[in-house]
Amino acid sequence: MSDTPAICNYEGSSYRTDFWEGRGRQYEDQVERVALRRLLPPTGKRLVEVGGGFGRLTDEFTGYQQVVIMDYSRSLLEEAQKRHGTDGRIIYVAANIYQSPLATGSYDAATMIRVIHHMRDVPAALGQVRAALAPGATFVLEFANKRNFKAMLRHLLRLQKWSPYSLEPVEFVELNFDFHPRYMAQSLQQVGFSTERRLAVSHFRLGILKRLVPMRLLVGLDSLLQPTGQFAAYAPSIFTQNIAQGDNPPAALDGPLFKCPQCASTQLDDQSDVVVCQGCGTHWDKRDGIYDFREPLSHS
Ligand SMILES: C[S@@+](CC[C@H](N)C(=O)[O-])C[C@H]1O[C@@H](n2cnc3c(N)ncnc32)[C@H](O)[C@@H]1O
Repeated sequence: MSDTPAICNYEGSSYRTDFWEGRGRQYEDQVERVALRRLLPPTGKRLVEVGGGFGRLTDEFTGYQQVVIMDYSRSLLEEAQKRHGTDGRIIYVAANIYQSPLATGSYDAATMIRVIHHMRDVPAALGQVRAALAPGATFVLEFANKRNFKAMLRHLLRLQKWSPYSLEPVEFVELNFDFHPRYMAQSLQQVGFSTERRLAVSHFRLGILKRLVPMRLLVGLDSLLQPTGQFAAYAPSIFTQNIAQGDNPPAALDGPLFKCPQCASTQLDDQSDVVVCQGCGTHWDKRDGIYDFREPLSHS
């Protein structure tokens, strides 16, 4: 496969148990769900969760006829599969968003939550999501906000070198970026999205508050404050609702799910444990019900 920007590789990681389960982040999980419910149409045909990981949020998408969980980490997808089962409504796909296997114009919704902060090439990643969506489709994008209260205070006290007000992304740890809301709005617009709504999320992400204040109260307060993000986005996490622009006719939403990442053909012979591209002959792995479009198995 040709070179792509560096990937933050979660293969084999214990992200679920190191970061979420038993780690005191129910508040973050709950306020993200509130934002998601506000921005995503409750029902639809095909939704793709880009960077869906172990399927933490997949139970929010029960109103969709088909849900593709796409992630670069096969091991996290195996955890997602254990969690959400194999009834065929949820489809598990190991792939790199920079070399997307999602068929053009074939999805009517997408989410990308806690993922873009690992992207060095934001326009390339967003462009791939836009290409998969039909005109009018909804894309809920979450990003980490560099212009947040804590960063502004640290900057004021000269405890931090970078400015929260400048537009360029800041890489605070390798392959972990915070973004200015205006930079993200411009990037979304450049690839053909119009941002309709913006929510400020997770205002009270502070250990001491989470210990002292009952979680339901914190979640309720955050829910009240979320709409302020439309004009004043200073929380650490920003959720945006973006509509795919364009008047090219939408692909049939019951048409192909995938295209070959090598040649873009949608003529794929989907066998029980392998997918063979009829366009270029590339074989892709499909072990234990998980499609794997990261590296080809072979060419014919
Ligand atoms: C912080 S986790 C978030 C997982 C999930 N969205 C959640 O909120 O629980 C980031 C996820 O992005 C995935 N990821 C990172 N780079 C990717 C890429 N280039 N293509 C697809 N997935 C990627 C990782 O494998 C990981 O599962």
